[in-house]
Amino acid sequence: MVQSIGLKKINTAVFISGTGSNLKSLIQFSKKKNSPISIELIISDNSKAKGLKYGKIFKISSKPFNYKNKLIVEKKIISEIKNKKIKLICLAGFMRILSKNFIKSFKGKILNIHPSLLPKYKGLQTHERVISNGEKYSGCTVHFVSPRLDSGKIILQKKVKISKNETNKSLKKKILIEEHKLYPKAISKIFNL
Ligand code: GRF
Repeated sequence: MVQSIGLKKINTAVFISGTGSNLKSLIQFSKKKNSPISIELIISDNSKAKGLKYGKIFKISSKPFNYKNKLIVEKKIISEIKNKKIKLICLAGFMRILSKNFIKSFKGKILNIHPSLLPKYKGLQTHERVISNGEKYSGCTVHFVSPRLDSGKIILQKKVKISKNETNKSLKKKILIEEHKLYPKAISKIFNL
């Protein structure tokens, strides 16, 4: 049997709060032979996050945390990350803002996906704002996380055209399809693959 050679996959954690469709696409990507990542940990700020089911399905260690005190929770998260020798963190619909110290201690190792063409439409309710401003295009962005919200260095973006009768729901759906392709591409890009 020919064994795969060379590529040692990078232990990766995915942080979620909700549905986890990006988590699912990242897990599928990680299973590919040429993927640079292996997802070893799922962190959630919400024990009811639907996406936690992917931890069960794909047998990945999943840790929901009660986010009452950010500093205490972050300490616990850091200890999980160290245990699993995590070298890359992918935020995928994670609705908490990480502390500056947390971000600094993983500098250049935290990525995020945002459903707009950054630097436009940082923050929440992006689709609603894009539509009410009559934009012709929107899209999604994968970027490094820096202490300023949605402002880190951009890795990749994908543009989508807004149709005449676009609704928040249809735009969200259209952009999510692109997000599922863009996140894996951006990860390959940072590993020069
Ligand atoms: C995505 O639109 C992502 O860009 C944003 O939150 C949403 C998460 O969706 N940050 P899902 O949980 O991955 O389905």
